Amino acid sequence: MTPAATVRHLLGDRPSVPGEAGESFASANIALVKYWGKRDAALNLPVTSSLSVSLGGKGTRARLAANGTDTLTINGAEIAPEAKEFRRMFAFLDLLRPAPDFRFRLDTTSTIPMAAGLASSASAFASVVMAADRLFGWGLPARDLSVLARMGSGSASRSLFRGFVQWHAGARADGLDSFAEPVAADWPDFRIGVLKLSSAEKKTGSRDGMNRTVAESPLYAAWPALVARDLEETRAALAARDFTRLGRAAERNALAMHGTMLGCFPAVLYWLPESVAAIRRVMDAREAGVPVYLTMDAGPNVKLLFPVDAESAVREWFPALDVINPFAD
Ligand code: PMV
Repeated sequence: MTPAATVRHLLGDRPSVPGEAGESFASANIALVKYWGKRDAALNLPVTSSLSVSLGGKGTRARLAANGTDTLTINGAEIAPEAKEFRRMFAFLDLLRPAPDFRFRLDTTSTIPMAAGLASSASAFASVVMAADRLFGWGLPARDLSVLARMGSGSASRSLFRGFVQWHAGARADGLDSFAEPVAADWPDFRIGVLKLSSAEKKTGSRDGMNRTVAESPLYAAWPALVARDLEETRAALAARDFTRLGRAAERNALAMHGTMLGCFPAVLYWLPESVAAIRRVMDAREAGVPVYLTMDAGPNVKLLFPVDAESAVREWFPALDVINPFAD
């Protein structure tokens, strides 16, 4: 099934009658067990399942309306049609047009701290899908909205929900069983610390990085079994509210993902010297008794995981820390 056929299937006989505008907010998310590798590039179907924590009030607000021409603003600035953000977003919005000559105005604003190395594409695509649902009055279930958001950016499937969220890889070729859903309620003591190491644009985006890893790295063969192990461990840790167990599974999963990338030649290498120094410092802090673990995505920045009662100890080791409470607005 093509992405367009997936949209037609999910909408069924619902009409797309545009109201005045549709507005919605979606939280960003950070994977504790990572999505790395596609089994279908057109539909964004993953090789494995993944599990994330949403970032509460940090995310994207989208307002979508009918318009004379396709227009995009991000944080109030108009984006040129040639810009890659514009092309990527409208390639996705093409799927949602009720008629070929229908044009959108999309205004997005982000509450994600600038240059913090937190992905904004997940919350952007998720908020746009929810805004489209409101604009056109579809009333689709969250599971179907997750499938739609997935076709914009894989990790966007998880940004439909708050808290801990699992994206099920699914097995079907049409991807209709590849959607996310919440796995556990809140954990108010859980904290994420963002270390700002670099805001330079990375050389390799996540799409290219994962495609190269799947195609070239002999180490990728080990990845699905590692994810299965870490997912089971993470779910058990969530059920038991066992922070140490969760942190260990998340850290080893993130570092193993980067390990698969090193098997390419030239290696897919997102780390900077500052990243390695931060990883070492997290290990040192832990050896000194601080309950802190790390995770990293397709970039050089390091994110810390710790319980709230360790916050002051973590800040002593990492003074320039931005702390996010995933369960606050
Ligand atoms: O959804 P994408 O295409 O931006 O890929 C996300 C990849 C990672 O952030 C590295 C892992 C994840 O599960 O979010």
